[in-house]
Amino acid sequence: MGVPDGDAKSGAKIFKVKCATCHTYDKGGASKTGPNLYGLFGRTSGTVEGYSYTQANRDKGVVWNDDTLFDYLENPKKYIPGTKMAFAGFKKPQERADVIAFLKEATA
Ligand code: HEC
Repeated sequence: MGVPDGDAKSGAKIFKVKCATCHTYDKGGASKTGPNLYGLFGRTSGTVEGYSYTQANRDKGVVWNDDTLFDYLENPKKYIPGTKMAFAGFKKPQERADVIAFLKEATA
């Protein structure tokens, strides 16, 4: 089971609606309710300077990439029990793949 091919354009729209209230993704962008997502791919969870994570998010210690984000975004509270990220998750694999494709472009 791999991650399906994502459509970054569709992912940008999804991000705007579902993620942008809590996250920025530009370089040097502010952390809002959630941490800034610039440089996300290849970064270990819970390591944005100056952002106050839950211990759960810090202790998870995963490296964010297509596969880990695909699992995480299906059900963040299941993937990281105790996280304060108030997002229910995407049931549809294609929606997750699209957001991941967008983030890969936008955060690099
Ligand atoms: C209601 C606010 C909110 C929404 C909506 C939200 N997030 Fe988050 N997100 C957070 C918070 C808060 C954290 C930090 C969680 C913690 O410390 O437990 C977080 C953490 C994360 C992390 C882990 C970052 C790291 O450095 O370890 C990723 C990746 C992420 N969010 C992506 C997304 C994506 C993609 C979406 C949209 C599908 C989204 N989030 C929607 C608030 C939100």
